[in-house]
Order: sequence, then C-alpha cells, then structure tokens
Amino acid sequence: MARIAYDHTDAAAFASTRHLGDDGAGQWRAAVKRVLDPRPGMRLLDLGAGTGSWSRAFSDWFPGIDVTAVEPSPAMRERSVHQPVLAGDAAPSVGQVEAAFAGEGFATVSLEQVPQITAVSLRQAADGLRREAHTPLQLITDEEYSAGVERLRHAALTDTGPVIDALDLLVLRRDGSSTHE
Ligand SMILES: C[S@@+](CC[C@H](N)C(=O)[O-])C[C@H]1O[C@@H](n2cnc3c(N)ncnc32)[C@H](O)[C@@H]1O
Repeated sequence: MARIAYDHTDAAAFASTRHLGDDGAGQWRAAVKRVLDPRPGMRLLDLGAGTGSWSRAFSDWFPGIDVTAVEPSPAMRERSVHQPVLAGDAAPSVGQVEAAFAGEGFATVSLEQVPQITAVSLRQAADGLRREAHTPLQLITDEEYSAGVERLRHAALTDTGPVIDALDLLVLRRDGSSTHE
C-alpha cells in the first residue's frame, strides 16, 4: 500500500489519537513476555517508530533495555516521546524480514495476531476519529470516507461493544536458541 508522508498535520493527529493505550499495552506486554526474556542491555530496534509510544512502552516495561527508534518523518520525530530517535528508512514487510534473517539462520516460529482494545465503543471511536492519522483513510476518496463515517455512526447506535484491533506478532528464532536464552 502507498504510504502517507506524515507531515505536521498527520503527525499531530497521530500523536493525539493513536498512542498506545493502557489496554493494548497490557496485551502486548504479555505477548512479548511469552516469546522473549528482556534483560538489561538487550538492544531493541523500533523501525517506523512514529511518535515513539511503543519505544517508550518497551523502555518502561523492561528497565535497562536499550531501545533505538528509527523514523523517516521529521514531523513524527519532532513529536517523539522517546529518545534517541534516528532518521532512517526501513520498514520491511513480513516476507522481507523472514528473507533477511533466514541468511543468519533464523526461521519463523509463529505469526500471531495480538488483539487490543482501541476504543471502548464504536461511538468513542467515531468521536475520536482523525482522518489525517490513518494512512488508509487518506488514500480513499472524500465520498468513500464520508460514506464510511456515516456507516460507522449508524452502527454505533446499536453496537455498544469495544473496538478490537489486531496487530501481527512475528517471532523468528535461530536454530538451537530458546525463548529465554
Ligand atoms: C502507522 S505509523 C505507526 C507508528 C508507530 N510504530 C506506532 O505504532 O505508534 C507508521 C510509521 O511508519 C513510518 N514509515 C513509513 N515508511 C517507512 C519506512 N520505509 N521506514 C521506516 N518508517 C516508515 C511512518 O513515517 C510512520 O511514522
């Protein structure tokens, strides 16, 4: 998918509406702990770090780990809640990650979707929606966007449950290594 540049308008919208929330953070912390044993000194690279909320979360969860954030957009870097954040361009797909690490003896162990609550209700999601903060919403037409928002608001009248999104967790492991090595 084509990507947006995350200029100042996009970056401000992203920073105000899409930082990692407490619910999502709890589920991701548990998911990471299942496959990794973070120890002081361990290095972690956050590619496409945006405004740094994941880098900050990892630093808070696992004291002593060394998190480096990498982000190409100056507007996102300017708003980063984590330092250091370096200018850089490298956000590979799952296939590219697998190919890059295969040469070093890493194989895919699992690819799971970790669910996270991103809004307590559709109503809250609709009220907090900022088009500038979402790449796919900027790549559709104004008419498509308006129709989608209308459908969302209509659904919010009857559907009161939480909004649950899922992000991918890809785990690679080198031959002979275990979860807690
Ligand atoms: C949807 S945001 C997610 C930001 C952050 N990872 C988060 O979850 O809060 C995607 C970020 O990836 C960055 N990005 C886009 N293309 C990239 C590339 N080729 N290399 C590194 N980052 C990239 C964008 O500038 C943007 O900040």
